[in-house]
Amino acid sequence: MDNHSDRIIYLDHAATSWPKPPEVIEAVRDAMLLHGANPGRGSHRMAVDAGRIVFEARQALAELFRIANPNDIALTFNTTIGLNMAIKGLLKPGDHVVATAVEHNAVRRPLEYLKRTIGVKVTYVETDERGRLDPSRVREALLPDTKLVIVNHSSNLLGSILPVAEIGEMTRRRGIRLLVDAAQSAGVLPIDVEAMGIDMLAFPGHKGLLGPQGTGGLYIHPEIELEPILHGGTGSQSESADQPDVRPDRFESGTVNTPGLAGLAAGVRYVLHETVGKIYNKEWLLAQRLMEGLASIDGVRVLGPEAGEPRTGIVSFIVGSADPSETAFILDRHYGIAVRAGYHCTPLAHGAAGTGDTGAVRASVGWSTTEADVDALIEAVKEISRYY
Ligand code: ALA
Repeated sequence: MDNHSDRIIYLDHAATSWPKPPEVIEAVRDAMLLHGANPGRGSHRMAVDAGRIVFEARQALAELFRIANPNDIALTFNTTIGLNMAIKGLLKPGDHVVATAVEHNAVRRPLEYLKRTIGVKVTYVETDERGRLDPSRVREALLPDTKLVIVNHSSNLLGSILPVAEIGEMTRRRGIRLLVDAAQSAGVLPIDVEAMGIDMLAFPGHKGLLGPQGTGGLYIHPEIELEPILHGGTGSQSESADQPDVRPDRFESGTVNTPGLAGLAAGVRYVLHETVGKIYNKEWLLAQRLMEGLASIDGVRVLGPEAGEPRTGIVSFIVGSADPSETAFILDRHYGIAVRAGYHCTPLAHGAAGTGDTGAVRASVGWSTTEADVDALIEAVKEISRYY
């Protein structure tokens, strides 16, 4: 197979970051080549080595998110699994949940499922059309039986940044649990679970943390009792028919993705070394350049926060009357530019942005994006726009 790096301009980091730093690839390769045994099962040297790789990933993540005990992180295969674990493990019949109008289907679908099956009540609070949330909207939506508030830290369509710390202060004061979807913010925005009042944090390994696909996790505050949604082998207390109480085993049944976690640990170390602040600034500047360039083209509508406002590296847009999927197809086939088009698994956010009927094209920058990449997209859209 081809290595596309010489001819692809990759602007789809919000789906999966690519390429990965060389040290991530090295770490995956070493794990497979040198430490390929099963972690936490067996006491031979290679199994112990594999266990150490998993522990190092947990430690690096704890350092990044300022989590006191690495064992409060359950390693998962992606954000969706973490969100399902949190939502289905916490909510009981009749509980009320507040979520936002820019949630991903990874939140919306489990909530709608619980609404249908056990009578959970859900309120989605409005954002404005640029995906900005006024935290007082959340306050107004809280009810006496509200058990959980769920916030998407940054919209995967609009790039807006939601006021997690303000909401966390409110939920802590009222004894309501706060679940944050960090799919687009982990590795890009500062996250401090204690300081921001976050009770559960679901995050991917394969986006801003620069690890491989098939990695991610859920932080669970030590005082939260979650019912596990998966039961099975943990390599511990095998004689018991019940899932162990001890963390992380309680939430990690089955063999984890050790080579992936080796890569994730290397990705997180890269982020820690670069610093989240520096990564955010770089992506913000590129996003500004892209937004301004696209907005200057006749007939192009750019979604999300206005120029100069905080945002992650996501810039969605629509080119005149062109179907977004067609625009993305032309960008790929004629210009070698990779973007994502359609509904991005977030019809709610499209509803907020007023693009529920059309969808949009989404470009997203990352650690490896250059100004030349962004300029190439602007020039290509300029040409395409002449035909629509
Ligand atoms: N949820 C990811 C995205 O927004 C895959 O593209």
